[in-house]
Amino acid sequence: MCRATGQQVRPAVTEGADHRVPPGTLCAIPTAAEDTNLNAQPMSPDAAALRAPSEQAAADPRTAAVIPAAGRGVRLGPGTPKALRSLNGTPMLVHAVRAMAQARAVSLVVVVAPRESLSAVRNLLDEHSLPEVPVVPGGETRQDSVRLGLAALPDDVEIVLVHDAARPLVPAEVVDAVAGAVRDGAPAVVPALPVSDTVKRVAAPLQTGGPEPVVETPDRSRLRAVQTPQGFARATLAAAHARIGREGEGATDDAGMVERLGVQVVVVPGSEQAFKVTRPLDLVLAEAVLARRRRTDGF
Ligand code: CTP
Ligand code: MG
Repeated sequence: MCRATGQQVRPAVTEGADHRVPPGTLCAIPTAAEDTNLNAQPMSPDAAALRAPSEQAAADPRTAAVIPAAGRGVRLGPGTPKALRSLNGTPMLVHAVRAMAQARAVSLVVVVAPRESLSAVRNLLDEHSLPEVPVVPGGETRQDSVRLGLAALPDDVEIVLVHDAARPLVPAEVVDAVAGAVRDGAPAVVPALPVSDTVKRVAAPLQTGGPEPVVETPDRSRLRAVQTPQGFARATLAAAHARIGREGEGATDDAGMVERLGVQVVVVPGSEQAFKVTRPLDLVLAEAVLARRRRTDGF
């Protein structure tokens, strides 16, 4: 887990306050010796010979993860906001924060929480030994929440990963692969999987409640189901939120907004475990995955 190097980050939780994180509060990139939970691939001997670890940390662009967690979770049914629901005794949001913090690439994690649950989220992160993770209030739509999270980042962050709290089980390897592809020069990177169902595009039914006419069947081999974290050069994502966000029409993911700017988005392999908890059955699957991890990995 990354640790704050400077003063403790505890932004005020009042509305209208300046929620930007001061630059000196970025976490140190943990070394393998500091963090036994790191499961990223070790550096190749050649790369290690070229750069000492301290030089590498200094040369790497600062990478922050923004976790939008301000949704209601309407499709999950009535109850507390989705990100605060428990998975095997630990809130979904805590799983998601840990998943991002364990990735080698990530040096700062910012949580965007429901406005009315800011204190609850702050307390919950503290209780789970995550006091250095700033919490900022979210907006009406996911797009608004991401924009507010972005606005809270210190100026020296160059790469931003946006990760749904609703994907709590993403493996660290996927996070590092996305961040690595951005670091290698791609302005926008999404993890994705081939789709297993055949997908049809349909038109509106001819009469209300009637069957929907099929318009086309896209070639499944070229379709991908997209996950998070989605990674961006910060300037690219900021431009998308500034320009496309103003046009009002909501995009369901950040990469979709970047595409509308005309910037090339690329895909890296995602993971089955990075599925989104959306409906009640997804909770059952997530708890089963966690139970299997506990049996096989011991945590
Ligand atoms: N999200 C957010 N702010 C919003 C809406 C959504 O930060 N105003 C976040 C959610 O908390 C979630 C992610 O965006 O982590 C993906 O959204 P989704 O899975 O749709 O979650 P909800 O919007 O909470 O669920 P639902 O659409 O069923 O209400
Ligand atoms: Mg939603």
